[in-house]
This record gives sequence, C-alpha cells and structure tokens, in this order.
Amino acid sequence: MSEKKKYYITTPIYYPSGNAHLGHGYSTVAADVVARYRRMQGYDVMFLTGTDEHGQKIEINAGKEGLTPKEYVDKIAGQFKKLWETLEITNDKFIRTTDDYHKKAVQKIFKTLFDKGEIYKGKYSGWYCTPCESFFTKAQIEEGKCPDCGREVKWTEEEAYFFKLSKYADKLLNLYKENPHFIEPESRKNEMIQFIESGLEDLCVSRTSFKWGIPVDFDDKHVVYVWLDALTNYITAQGYGSDDDSDYKKYWPADVHFVGKEIVRFHAIIWPAILMALDLPLPKQIYGHGWLLFGDGSKMSKSKGNVVDPKILCSRYGVDAIRYFLMREIPFGSDGMFTNEALVNRINYDLANDLGNLLSRTTAMVGKYFGENIPKERKEGNIDSELVNMASNLRKEYEIKMNEFKFSSALGKVWLLISRCNKYIDETMPWELGKDEANKPRLACVLYNLCECLRIISILIKPFMPSTSEKIQNQIGAEKDICTWEKANCWGELPSDAKITKQVSLFPRIDVKKEMEELDNLISKNEPQEKVEDSKDKINENKENDETNLVKLIDIEDFAKVELIVAKIEECEPVKKAKKLLKLIVNDGQGTRTVASGIAKYYKPEDLVGKSIILVSNLKPVKLCGVESHGMILAADCGENDVKVIFVEGIEAGSKIR
Ligand code: MSP
Repeated sequence: MSEKKKYYITTPIYYPSGNAHLGHGYSTVAADVVARYRRMQGYDVMFLTGTDEHGQKIEINAGKEGLTPKEYVDKIAGQFKKLWETLEITNDKFIRTTDDYHKKAVQKIFKTLFDKGEIYKGKYSGWYCTPCESFFTKAQIEEGKCPDCGREVKWTEEEAYFFKLSKYADKLLNLYKENPHFIEPESRKNEMIQFIESGLEDLCVSRTSFKWGIPVDFDDKHVVYVWLDALTNYITAQGYGSDDDSDYKKYWPADVHFVGKEIVRFHAIIWPAILMALDLPLPKQIYGHGWLLFGDGSKMSKSKGNVVDPKILCSRYGVDAIRYFLMREIPFGSDGMFTNEALVNRINYDLANDLGNLLSRTTAMVGKYFGENIPKERKEGNIDSELVNMASNLRKEYEIKMNEFKFSSALGKVWLLISRCNKYIDETMPWELGKDEANKPRLACVLYNLCECLRIISILIKPFMPSTSEKIQNQIGAEKDICTWEKANCWGELPSDAKITKQVSLFPRIDVKKEMEELDNLISKNEPQEKVEDSKDKINENKENDETNLVKLIDIEDFAKVELIVAKIEECEPVKKAKKLLKLIVNDGQGTRTVASGIAKYYKPEDLVGKSIILVSNLKPVKLCGVESHGMILAADCGENDVKVIFVEGIEAGSKIR
C-alpha cells in the first residue's frame, strides 16, 4: 500500500495575556476546517496550535493578578484548550512555549545560530513600548507614543544578541519570485516586498531587561526574545532539537501557516530567514487572513453592544452555526464585522430556511408517501439531469475553492445546490404527484434525487459543520461508506433500503427581534456596555449638521486633528446593496484597510485599482450598507454629476500630507 500523503497546518500560537476570544477562534476554526477537509481526502494530517507564553507583557499581567508567570499562563492556556474543545477543534498537538522540550530545542537553535555566526552580540537602543514588546526608531514614534498602540514609549539601551536578518533581503525577494504562492493573498506579498526593499535591519533576539523567557544557556543574563522563541514552535513541536524527531522528519515542511495579517511580516520574513540560516526547508505557504472586527472596529473582542463570548454563542446557537458563520460571512483574506444580527440572519436564512427546510421537507415527504424507504427510481428527465449534473460536479468546484482557502466561496457553491434543490421541489411539486398512484414512480424519483443531493451536501459541509453533516446522514439513512470524499462526486449511491427518518429540525428559526432584546438584556446584566452607534443615525446626524452654504472658519489645531495620507488602491468592487458605493481595499503603508466611497457613479473599479489617492485616515470607522469603512478618500465636487477623485503620483503609500 502506498504511504498516505502528509499535510501539516498550523495556527499562530496565541498570547495567553488575556482571555481566549472569538477572534482567536477565527484562525483556529479556519485551520480546523482545512485539517478536517484534508483528513477527509485521505491525507495524514498534522494540525498544530498552542500558546506563546513568554515575554514581559505576561510577566506584568501575572504580577497584576498576584500570580507567578507560570501560574498565570497555566490558567489561560487552560482556557484556550477549553475554547478549542467547545469549538470542536481537532488539533493533533498543542504546544506551549513553556514546555521543557521546546525550551531545550530553542536553546540549541540559538547556540547553533551563534556558532554559525548568524547571531552576534551587540547593543540595542531605541524607543521601547512595553505592552507591544517592540522597539521603534525616532521616525516611527509619534509624539512620544507607540505607533501601534498609542501608549508611552521609553528610551531604552541594553546589550543584546542580534540575528543577521539584513543579509537575507535578496534571498527572501528571490524566494517570493520563485514561489509566487509563498505569501497569500497577493496584496500581503506586495507589502512584504515593499518592506524588504525599504531596508531590512538585523533583528534583536535576546533581552536582559526581563526574566520571563528562555535563558540563553551560554550567557544567562539574556533571555531569548519573543519571535525566535515563538516561530520555532512550528518545528520544535514536531521534535526538532529533541531526541525523538520522527514527527519533524515526517511532517516538516509545513504546507501552510495560517496567521493574522499583522503577523505576516514575522512569518514571511523572519521565519524563512531563520530557517535559511539553519539550512532547513522552508514552509510551503504563509496565508495572512483578515480580522474579525467587533463593535468598536477593533480586532479585540472587548466589544460594545454585541454578545461575543464564544461559549455563550455556542450554547445559544450551536457550535456548527458559529463555525459556519465565521467561515461564510467574511472572505478569509479580508476583514469583516461580527454582529449578532448578522449571525442570527445567517442562521435563519442559510441554515434554517435553506438547508434545514430542504432536509425536513424531503424526509417528511418520504415518510408521508413511502413510509421509511424510497424506491431507488432512476427515471430522469431534463430537469433531473440538470440537478444530477450540478450535484455530481459540485465536488470539483468546491475543491478548487477549498484548495485556495476560499471558504466562503466553497460554501457558496454548496448553497447553490441547496437552493437548486429547493427550487426543484417547487418545480416538481411532489405534493401534486402524491395525489395520483400512477405518479408514484415519478414521485419516488424526485425524492430519491433530493436525498442523493442531501448526501453529497452532507459530505461537503462536514469540515465546517461536523455534527450537522452527521445528522443529515442519519436522517437520510446514508451509511458511512457512501458518505466519503470519494463518493461525493458519484450519483446513485444511496441504496433503496436506506431508512429515512424525520427528526427534529436542524436549526430552529430565531425570532430576530426577540433575540436581539434578549441579547441586549444579557449585555446589560453582564457589564455596562455602550451601545454602538448605528451608522444610519450617524449619517442623518451629519446631514442635520451640514452647513454647506456657510464657510466656517476653523483653527489650525482643528485641521491638525485630521490625518491625511497617501494610500494605494489594491482592490475595488461594487457594493451589492448600494448603487452609489464602491468598496476599496487600500494600502496605507502599514497594511490594508477597507474604505467605502460614494463614487460608483463616476468610476469603474478597474479605473481605480493601482492608483494612489489621498485618504483621511483617522476617521472613526463607520458601517455603510454593510461595509465597514476605515477612512474617506478625497475627491473634488466639480458640479452636478461630476466628481473627481484626487489621484497622486510618485508618492509612496503611507506618506503623510502636511
Ligand atoms: N503570539 C503571537 C503569534 C506567534 S506565532 C509564531 C501573536 N499572538 S496573538 O494572540 O496576539 O494573536 C494570535 C493570532 O490571533 C494572530 O494571528 C491574530 O491576527 C489573531 N487574532 C486575534 N484577534 C483576531 C481577530 N479579531 N480576528 C482574526 N484574527 C485575530 O500574535
């Protein structure tokens, strides 16, 4: 027998510096979907997640709670593990960077790099932000504040070891050129290229100002500084640097590292450079996904006005509904908003109406007209062939999307078949066929076709909604051997003696108004949470204050509050629900952000992509027709029916306009 193909997927290892939240769940559910999908395809999967437990921030947070750092991380690592159980995550390993084997392996790696001359001793000085554990140059800090979190930075000088990152600039650029899919999505690759081209500096890999880290064993004043400790988890978890490195030999290199967009830089630049320095193979791909944004537009779920606790959500709606929502609502590479209303609407429309109804109507009709079994009738007319072809081809289309991590589109394909099935019921009208005994063979054929479609659907939704998939298979009486990946593109597998049973509905419909009221009550009971401003109210309020005919003089300080920068448009598309709006993904020099602009009447998306514009970058986010807009682009109002966007040329994205 030939050996199974290997597939190694990882999530970032999470900082246990605060509670595990739904945002962390987002990466982990996505990785779990891929792990389950690959297992279903017959791969020997290694799925790794874990916690990144060292660093000054943890030391400080533990102190605040009167705990030792180890007691503190034990507590929070436990919460992460519990959350993964709740979300039915099937990770094969869970690494904690405080695990002994990891610490020893990191020390060995550090020493090897030092002996090879890849790490040297020097002096670090710069502006240091403690919460972010990062040094910044003078140009990077803004009025003494950290450019990432806005808190005070301190001038700090210390002896430190450095990794010779700068010497890898050309090798990294070559790597991206020779492996065009090494960094996905494409926009993130461009950010990396720009970052490298603007000059790579050597990387500080040890610290002496705090103790909560892995000691450098040949110079114990120093502890290993976060990224060398964290990134190496992907190999140490498999035994690299330990006595038993069989899993390392079996699974490395990883097929993909899933990471949030803000840490692509560490994974696409520092990590391959470390591996190159160690002469080890490189991971095949780094995928930088977008953020799940909460009520206040941030990626932290200390959100206002929404119930976001994953445990509460899972107990109210079921784990499958939450997993489905996370993967369906937001294209994986982009940012997207989490709201309770959007979640409940998805449950009602997609799960209760489309999928749930299809199953309950089908099983109820089989019960009504045929008792438990349906004869396996295969008479096909045109209408049947269309459905049969669609169902048999679905696996192929789904596979293409899944292999590109386009989870929302893969589910979209499955839902097209679900909708087609519901339409097929309306077209074939089984309740009419049931009135005449002579039509029984035709009726059997219609119901058989629907059950077969449900079998195929149940296989393809399995990585996303494992329990729902099983429930469907039980209800249509499909045994395990016909619910495999191999059988997902075969037709006519369900035998005539399959026992079909109608059971409780998969997803009961939720009364949106009542549910929102209950959630509001829950919020006010738990903690005083501000209500998020409704964007519609905001727009109306702005209209009322509009004094377009008056020229109002403002002070220079007022103007100074507005931050204008150059940004480059990377992607652009119309907004379905709003004729006037275009949704733009712009690069602001730090990363990408979404901006909605009312210029659809004047520009086609393809006219804008690649152009640079001026962006008001410090506007509070506002939701316009479902699009969370992070800024406003400047355009000139040139009279009736003419608006011209102000384009700029030859100025780098991120440059400030003063
Ligand atoms: N410890 C580092 C990663 C080291 S990997 C070798 C770290 N930890 S983190 O806890 O701050 O973030 C871990 C991951 O969670 C990141 O990929 C981050 O993008 C992701 N998310 C945290 N909040 C998120 C959302 N709201 N939405 C999506 N992902 C988010 O960085």
